[in-house]
Amino acid sequence: MIKLLSLLALLWVYMAVVGATHTADLSRKSFPKGFLFGTATSAYQVEGMASKGGRGPSIWDEFIKTPGAYFSFFKHLLEDINLMVNLNFDAYRFSISWSRIFPNGTGKVNRKGVAYYNRLINYMLRKGITPYANLNHYDLPLALENKYLGWLSHDVVKDYADYAEFCFKTFGDRVKNWMTFNEPRVVAALGYDNGFFAPGRCSKAYGNCTAGNSATEPYIVTHNLILSHAAAVQRYRQKYQEKQKGRIGILLDFVWYEPLTRSKADNYAAQRARDFHVGWFLHPLVYGEYPKTMQNIVKDRLPKFTKEEVKMVKGSFDLIGINQYTTYYMYDPHTSPPKDLGYQADWNVGFAYERKGVPIGPRTKLYEEDILCVQAYSNWLYNVPWGLHKAIMYIKERYGNPTVILAENGMDDPGNLTMSKALHDTTRINYYKGYLAALKQSVDEGANVVGYFAWSLLDNFEWRIGYTSRFGIVYVDFKTLKRTPKMSAYWFKKILRKNK
Ligand code: GAL
Repeated sequence: MIKLLSLLALLWVYMAVVGATHTADLSRKSFPKGFLFGTATSAYQVEGMASKGGRGPSIWDEFIKTPGAYFSFFKHLLEDINLMVNLNFDAYRFSISWSRIFPNGTGKVNRKGVAYYNRLINYMLRKGITPYANLNHYDLPLALENKYLGWLSHDVVKDYADYAEFCFKTFGDRVKNWMTFNEPRVVAALGYDNGFFAPGRCSKAYGNCTAGNSATEPYIVTHNLILSHAAAVQRYRQKYQEKQKGRIGILLDFVWYEPLTRSKADNYAAQRARDFHVGWFLHPLVYGEYPKTMQNIVKDRLPKFTKEEVKMVKGSFDLIGINQYTTYYMYDPHTSPPKDLGYQADWNVGFAYERKGVPIGPRTKLYEEDILCVQAYSNWLYNVPWGLHKAIMYIKERYGNPTVILAENGMDDPGNLTMSKALHDTTRINYYKGYLAALKQSVDEGANVVGYFAWSLLDNFEWRIGYTSRFGIVYVDFKTLKRTPKMSAYWFKKILRKNK
C-alpha cells in the first residue's frame, strides 16, 4: 500500500513538472505580436428578451417552447464589456440575432434591434474591444421556417444575403471582422439528421421527429448554407469591403478524428470522418467542390454546384474560424452501412473513446451528491489538447494554411454546482492551459492562427441542455443574473496582462 502511495506521489510530481514545462510560462508573449485573445457568446444563448424589444421568434423559440427565459445581456451590456476589459481581453465574438433585426426574416426593420447592436458595438470600440460579429448562430427567423421550410429552400439564399448586406451597410463602418455562420454543420446534422437541434427534423430511423429525411435533407441544407455564405461574401466584396476595409469568413466546428489503429482501414475511416465533418464545408470553399469521398458515397443525394456557383463559393473567405473542443478515435466497423440512409450513417465509421483500455483523455466523472465535477460536464467533451494541434495542422496542410482564428474552446461544469465550487474552477484552468499550449505549438510550427476565443465569457443557455451546464469563465447566478468571475477568469487576466 505504502509502495503504491509513493508511486502515485511520484507520478503526481512527474505530471506536475512535465505539465509545468509546457504551460507555466504561457502568456500573451508566447504568441506572435498582434495575436488576439477574446471570448465568445451567441445572441440566443445570452441576450434573453426573446419576445421583447420588437424581436421576432426564431426556430429555437419554437423548438424549446420557452423563449430564453432569464437571460438578459441587454441589461448587462455595459457591465459585461467592462468585465472583458478588466480581464485583459482584446476582442469579443458575439452574434447578431437575425429576427431581432428583421422580425419576419425580411421586410420591415426593427429599429430597436438595430439600436441595441449599435450600442453594443459603440461601447466595445470605446473600451478598446475589437468586435467579431457573427451573422447567424443557429437562430433562423421562425417566419422563414413557416414560409418555405427555412434552410431547406433555396429561397433562403437571397433572404440571408439581404440580411447580411443590411448588417454590412449598418454596422460595417465599425465592424471589421465578419463571420457568416457559426457551425453550419451542426445546423445540418443536428437539425436534419437526428433532430436534436431546431428545427428537429429526421427520418424515423434516426430520431423522434415528426417530419424529415436524414438521407437527403442534411445535404440540401448544407448546400443552401454554403450558397448563403457565398452570396453574403459576394455582396460584401462587391459593395463594402474596399471601403470598409474589413474581412469575412465562416466558423466551422472540427472534432479531431484519430485512427484507432494503424491499419489502412482505420486510417480511411478517420479520413472519411474528417471529410464528412470539416471537409463538407471547407473543401467547397477552398477547392470548389465537396470532398471526393463524399461524392463517391453520397452520390445523387449530394447536390452539385453549378459553374456559376463554383465561382462564387471557391475562395469565399478571408479567414476561417475553427471551434475545437475534443477528439475521438475512429475505426472501420467492417460492416456495410445501415439500410436506412442518413448523413451520420453515410460516414460508416465506429467511434471509440479509448485505446487498449486507456481513455483518449479525461472526461466527466460520475457525480455523486457532493462530489465535484472532475472534468467537463458535457458527456461528449474529452480533454485532448493534442487533438487541437492535429486539427490545426491538418487545416494548414490540407487547405493551404488559411488565416485561422481558434473561435471556440472551453469546457463546462454542471449547472447545479454550488457557487463556491463553481468559482474554484481549476479543472477549467488546466483545460485552457493544455489547449493554449497546443495552439502555441501549432503557431510555432507555422500555422497561420491569429486569434483565440474562449467559450464562453458567461455561463449561458446551453441549447438542448439549457441551464444545466456552465461553460463560462464568469459565473452567472441564473436567478439574479449577478456575474462573478471564476478562477479561470483571473487566470486569463494574469496571462493576458499587457506590458505598460
Ligand atoms: C458550440 C456552439 C456554442 C456552444 C458550445 C458548447 O458548438 O457553437 O453555441 O454551445 O458549442 O457546447
